[in-house]
Amino acid sequence: MKRVEAIVRVERLPIVKEHLREIGIGGMTITSVSGWSKQRELHLQWRGLPVSYDLIPRSKFEIIIPDDQLDLVLKTITENARTGEHGDGLISVSNVEEAINIATLDRGERAIK
Ligand SMILES: Nc1ncnc2c1ncn2[C@@H]1O[C@H](COP(=O)(O)OP(=O)(O)OP(=O)(O)O)[C@@H](O)[C@H]1O
Ligand SMILES: [Mg+2]
Repeated sequence: MKRVEAIVRVERLPIVKEHLREIGIGGMTITSVSGWSKQRELHLQWRGLPVSYDLIPRSKFEIIIPDDQLDLVLKTITENARTGEHGDGLISVSNVEEAINIATLDRGERAIK
């Protein structure tokens, strides 16, 4: 099993989420986060005064999937989260040793269906 974590633009999350549901992933955990990267500062004006933000709101989500869904999941996330502009976000993938469905006590891939 793999854990896929992705940080995406807030406005892209709904479409990414719907497409992941359509390809049949078993669940998803979503968090509101803020972060910085190369575009470290956003300079705006508020009531005529300059304001700078060094943290930009982002949506982060985590999904645990069987190994054989990985390529399709990565394709689905990139196709739906990408604008092609700097700041589209980051996906990371790691190995998951075990998963247990607390209600049914199913383990492994049965637990994440
Ligand atoms: N190495 C990292 N570790 C953790 N979070 C990161 C990392 N890189 C990017 N992020 C997260 O992704 C968000 C968007 O960063 P992203 O890398 O997409 O933009 P960028 O670095 O400004 O431009 P580019 O798209 O050219 O990399 C950041 O605000 C941060 O939350
Ligand atoms: Mg970057």
